[in-house]
Amino acid sequence: MKKFSVVIAGGGSTFTPGIVLMLLNNLDKFPIRQIKFYDNNAERQQQIADACEIIVKEQAPEIVFVSTTDPQEAFTDIDFVMAHIRVGLYAMREKDEKIPLKYGVIGQETCGPGGIAYGMRSIGGVLELIDYMEKYSPNAWMLNYSNPAAIVAEATRKLRPNSKIINICDMPVGIEERMANAIGLSSRKEIVVRYYGLNHFGWWTDIRDTEGNDLMPKIKAHVKEHGYSLLEEIEESQHTDASWMHTFSKAKELYAVDPDTLPNTYLKYYFYPQDEVAHANPEYTRANEVMAGREKHVFSECNRITAEGTAKGTTLEVDEHASYIVDLARAIAYNTHERMLLIVENQGAVVNFDETAMVEVPCIVGSNGPEPIVQGKIPRFQKGLMEQQVAVEKLVVEAWAEGSYQKLWQALTLSRIVPNARVAREILDDLIEVNKEFWPTLN
Ligand code: NAD
Ligand code: G6P
Ligand code: MN
Repeated sequence: MKKFSVVIAGGGSTFTPGIVLMLLNNLDKFPIRQIKFYDNNAERQQQIADACEIIVKEQAPEIVFVSTTDPQEAFTDIDFVMAHIRVGLYAMREKDEKIPLKYGVIGQETCGPGGIAYGMRSIGGVLELIDYMEKYSPNAWMLNYSNPAAIVAEATRKLRPNSKIINICDMPVGIEERMANAIGLSSRKEIVVRYYGLNHFGWWTDIRDTEGNDLMPKIKAHVKEHGYSLLEEIEESQHTDASWMHTFSKAKELYAVDPDTLPNTYLKYYFYPQDEVAHANPEYTRANEVMAGREKHVFSECNRITAEGTAKGTTLEVDEHASYIVDLARAIAYNTHERMLLIVENQGAVVNFDETAMVEVPCIVGSNGPEPIVQGKIPRFQKGLMEQQVAVEKLVVEAWAEGSYQKLWQALTLSRIVPNARVAREILDDLIEVNKEFWPTLN
């Protein structure tokens, strides 16, 4: 059996140790001969790498482990790039969240002005990774989950149309795990779904068990009462903080708007932006929560492992829910034809929608990449929302590529979350001020 060589880009990510543990847990399904870490922040990556090197040595000493900030060393002799970078780190996420709040507008990692600001930083970083991959390992595939995935995906479609990059999000996976649990199934693998939308902006239209029995009525009955909250919380390690519990219960109010479908949780920012503002603390946003929580835990635990020279008794957990990344790599490596939700160019999958939009739909994945499954025509409500949102995302990418202030202002003005063009401009000018180091110059 061929053994694969993988580079994790964003080696210093808070998610890296969980992913490494997950890869080590799945070696029977996806054998690995080499794991490399690549990051442009040597000091941050080193802390994660020193601990992960010990973990790899303890669990699979035959795997070669490399950690580097040199692109050539990182991207040479690679089969897969697993990319999760955050250009600007949490310090900039905090600004994305807090600047809009000054104007009474919700600030969020991937939605509204915050997502637009993050998109303007991410595009260049992700394109750079693609270029390294194509230069040093032209046959490799990039599995990208760097956010904001919708904007990043549109940028790669427009600016690197022939590159082997697949954009993926874990939110549907997380919600499907909760849906399965809510109706007494043991795993999301027991359900087969139809879904359409943009990333962080979509709906389930059909959910069945593997024998084809319709599970929608049972799941809807649960969501109508509880949203995606569960009577007994499950180990779904990614979404456990109190703020996530609030999000899951809010899904009840999203469902009420269209009881024919089941909503992605991120729609809360578009359907009830004022509620989110009212619920937010402008002095302490999600970035602060993550810095005090996940980031602190991961880094202090990695440093402890390094100091003790062993990972015995570690509180770092296998990110089992991220095994969808292994499923995706396997689908390409072994032509498994796994059915997965991916962010791909529409090309008719959503029949009555822009062919060039990057949509999130079920795809069959084989060694030639993803083949989208047609989801048919969508109703006026969703179509209207998606037309507006996809225009925002496309305008951001055009603004980035052309260095256009006007287009970025239009993108902010068009976002449902922003009340008017004047506020859009005020937020934009503040964002430009703090993003000088990261955004192209806008004229
Ligand atoms: P993090 O800040 O802990 O890690 C990101 C790492 O990327 C940092 O070590 C940083 O130095 C590095 N980096 C930044 N710019 C880089 C560049 N140009 N080249 C190489 N490395 C670079 O962030 P995190 O919270 O662990 O999240 C990582 C990313 O994963 C984010 O984009 C986050 O939104 C994304 N994410 C996506 C999903 C999804 O559903 N698609 C799920 C979870 C996380
Ligand atoms: C979900 C989304 C990701 C997002 C993450 C944020 O998993 O799908 O796209 O990055 O949540 O989580 P955080 O804990 O950093 O707020
Ligand atoms: Mn996501």
